[in-house]
Amino acid sequence: ARTTNENEMTHTRRAFIQSGLAMSALSFFPKAGSAATPEFQVMTAQSGAVQLAPPDYPKTEIWGYDGKFPGPVIRVRQGARLQRRLVNKLPQATSLHWHGVRISNAMDGVAGLTQDAIPTGETFDYDFAVPDAGTFWFHAHNRSVEQVARGLYGALIVEEPIAPDVDRDEVLILDDWLLNPETAQLDPDFEAVHDRSHAGRRGNFVATNGSFNSTLNVSQGERMRLRLINAANARIFVLGLSGLKGWVMAFDGMPLVTPSEISEPIILGPGQRADLFVDVIADEGESAHLVRLEDGQGFAQTEFRVTGTLASAVRDVPQVLPPNPNMDVPGLEQARRIRLNMEGGAMGNLDAAILEGERKTFRQLVDANQFWAFNGTVGMTEKPLASLSRGETARVEIYNDTSFPHAMHLHGMHFREVLEGGEVGPLRDTLLMFGGETREIAFVADNPGKWLFHCHMLSHAASGMMTWLEVA
Ligand code: C2O
Ligand code: CU
Repeated sequence: ARTTNENEMTHTRRAFIQSGLAMSALSFFPKAGSAATPEFQVMTAQSGAVQLAPPDYPKTEIWGYDGKFPGPVIRVRQGARLQRRLVNKLPQATSLHWHGVRISNAMDGVAGLTQDAIPTGETFDYDFAVPDAGTFWFHAHNRSVEQVARGLYGALIVEEPIAPDVDRDEVLILDDWLLNPETAQLDPDFEAVHDRSHAGRRGNFVATNGSFNSTLNVSQGERMRLRLINAANARIFVLGLSGLKGWVMAFDGMPLVTPSEISEPIILGPGQRADLFVDVIADEGESAHLVRLEDGQGFAQTEFRVTGTLASAVRDVPQVLPPNPNMDVPGLEQARRIRLNMEGGAMGNLDAAILEGERKTFRQLVDANQFWAFNGTVGMTEKPLASLSRGETARVEIYNDTSFPHAMHLHGMHFREVLEGGEVGPLRDTLLMFGGETREIAFVADNPGKWLFHCHMLSHAASGMMTWLEVA
């Protein structure tokens, strides 16, 4: 009996010691790892079904973050650290780009340039600070022409430290979906030759936040901040106001120095954003609208039903939004000059171009489903368009020698357009250019890394309109 007891003792002690070791091991390792694990919120890229079309139609199969559409609105304070663990439950590899955020390069989410695409079943941890207050968005950046069209995007709102004087703050994500008119399912031909060689993939079903009859109840006299985001693959939104008086306060997440009262249509190319402050002036019982102008007609993009009246109706012109930090106006004199010719497409004059190191005739490019070139080269190259030293100012003169508009987006840094007489325009991250135009942008190359520079008409990006810059 005694032996047994000793054995039991031994077992127990050993068990105790072992569990003690295990305990101390546990209490040790979480400390080392705790900076990484517990803070990350999980976001899962997966399929889902949403009622996009009217209720007598079936739900539309989409891909979304957490399977939802509209995607999550992430709201953080300026300067905050943002941590998201992206879990890929899609049938193809993905990555996540934070559009317009002056981010550290490794977190920029460009599959093939700043990270490997995340295979099905795997995860990637995005971890970065948000230096600027404003309206940003995030979207898939692998096979974007398909993944964004399927719904993989959401709004990233970075709040000013002192809340501006508005009564409400609304995110309005504008998109057009290409749906089969009978089944309400997405047209699965994401690589359509016509889309790639012409104006891009344009939808037949225009929506705000996924709703074709987007409606909000408001009061007369209310001042709203409307955060407009063009998430469409190719559609240029031309927008006006009715029953509303408004000011443009910011473009592409960056406050304007002088807000301008809206008297002309606001034009938003794919990827672009505008922050408006609008006052409801329509009478109670009526409706005000954000109007989409198209083919000489106006369509209700969002309806604001005036269901009440605020007592304190009369408002002053809004105060400007505070500028974001460290935005030097580029000195144009000593700048590095870069030239970018946009070529190709239908009705263009591209005879031949380099594709994957080989010279191809336009006919051969068409056979490869490639249509566009920058400076005679189709798509990404080994060497960047330019290697800039940190702090250097760059001026890029862009000539749109094609028959189509393009929306040129620079990752990692905002730029200003160089205007006549050496003036510079507001900070932007995407420049909408029409056929035949020559425009020039300038920026201070203050963010080190490899930065994509491409057309945000995603069918164009997929068929040649993509290059990159390096800041060392
Ligand atoms: Cu909004 Cu390279 O993308
Ligand atoms: Cu384009």
